[in-house]
Amino acid sequence: MHVVLLGGAGYIGTVAAPRLVSLGMQVTVVDGLVYRRAEDPRCLLPSACRFIHADLRDPDVLSEALAGADAVVHMGGLVGEPACAVDERLSVELNFSSPVMAAHTALACGVPHYVLFSSCSVYGRHEETVTEDTEPRPLGVYARTKALAERHVTHVLRDQADVTTLRLATVHGASPRQRLDSVVNRMAAQAAARGRVPLNGGSQRRPLVHVADVAAVLAAVLERPAGRRTLNVGSDRENHTIRRIAETVAELVPGTVIDVGPERDEADARDYRTSFARLGAFAPDTCTTPLTTGVSEIAEALATRQITDPDHPEYDNLKGLRLRHATGRLRALKSPELNRLHDLYARATVDGDRGR
Ligand SMILES: NC(=O)c1ccc[n+]([C@@H]2O[C@H](COP(=O)([O-])OP(=O)(O)OC[C@H]3O[C@@H](n4cnc5c(N)ncnc54)[C@H](O)[C@@H]3O)[C@@H](O)[C@H]2O)c1
Repeated sequence: MHVVLLGGAGYIGTVAAPRLVSLGMQVTVVDGLVYRRAEDPRCLLPSACRFIHADLRDPDVLSEALAGADAVVHMGGLVGEPACAVDERLSVELNFSSPVMAAHTALACGVPHYVLFSSCSVYGRHEETVTEDTEPRPLGVYARTKALAERHVTHVLRDQADVTTLRLATVHGASPRQRLDSVVNRMAAQAAARGRVPLNGGSQRRPLVHVADVAAVLAAVLERPAGRRTLNVGSDRENHTIRRIAETVAELVPGTVIDVGPERDEADARDYRTSFARLGAFAPDTCTTPLTTGVSEIAEALATRQITDPDHPEYDNLKGLRLRHATGRLRALKSPELNRLHDLYARATVDGDRGR
């Protein structure tokens, strides 16, 4: 099976690619290496992977990469609300327009299976437990671009290809392309580097999943395509409050002090409990790695000096993006096709459905 990973040199892709190669799959990775210090992907990806260093908004690159593929996985773009707030137009190009362009290319190339990486962030704030059938209530640009990409990719490929949407919980754990900017990894790195974890409030719940488990779910869905399918990716056992995550970090990293401050996470009001029953029925053994494993891996990476400067922009998508953006190396391209897709996004947003 030939699988194309768009954005596959990132935090999740560099864990998923070796897993797919080990299962005998032929893997092509297309990535612009937005956050890397070095431009050489060989330290990130197995030598058996074909690597194309390119922008995901380049239609010629998409056609070249997807020709003859059995599956395409879109896992690129900007992750999280703070990164998407840097430049909304760029975020729409990368998180909405690029997946939709890839869907059109997949259709033209006859690729039979499209896997779209989305996020549990699409749910927003809900009192009740959310399932894949819960109406998305995106609260910001990131969640909205994801929710609308889900809908439009499915629409472009309707009846022509299998479409799997993976709504990921917040991911934690070690990766060749390490990120330390999501909640678990950040707290573990702060504890290991400084012995302190800031906690402001912390009553919001976050569903969590280990990065290796995401790779396992991807392998399972690639091996068993099934029409149109949406899966929350995580585990019912791993729905934690932010406070519980901080306490777990403090238990695992000796001497850690939790600095409790006032609740101030207004910008990130996501709060929901997620059901992973559908994934549990489809692939029961895929998401079993506990929070403690991810915390220990990050603490170990600092203790053994695999990571020497946890504050380096390489580990933080927001800092890395700001650097790239400020120097003009990553900007909205505003090509006619991207402008057309931006208008589609803007109409869907203004229509009041805001991704629902
Ligand atoms: N990590 C999480 O906690 C999490 C949670 C929910 C959903 N997701 C989703 O999973 C996917 C992968 O996330 P990740 O954590 O691996 O993020 P990441 O930032 O590490 O990976 C994204 C990759 O996309 C590439 N990219 C970005 N813009 C590009 C462009 N214009 N051209 C070419 N390449 C470009 C980057 O270089 C990077 O390697 C994303 O779709 C994200 O929304 C991640």
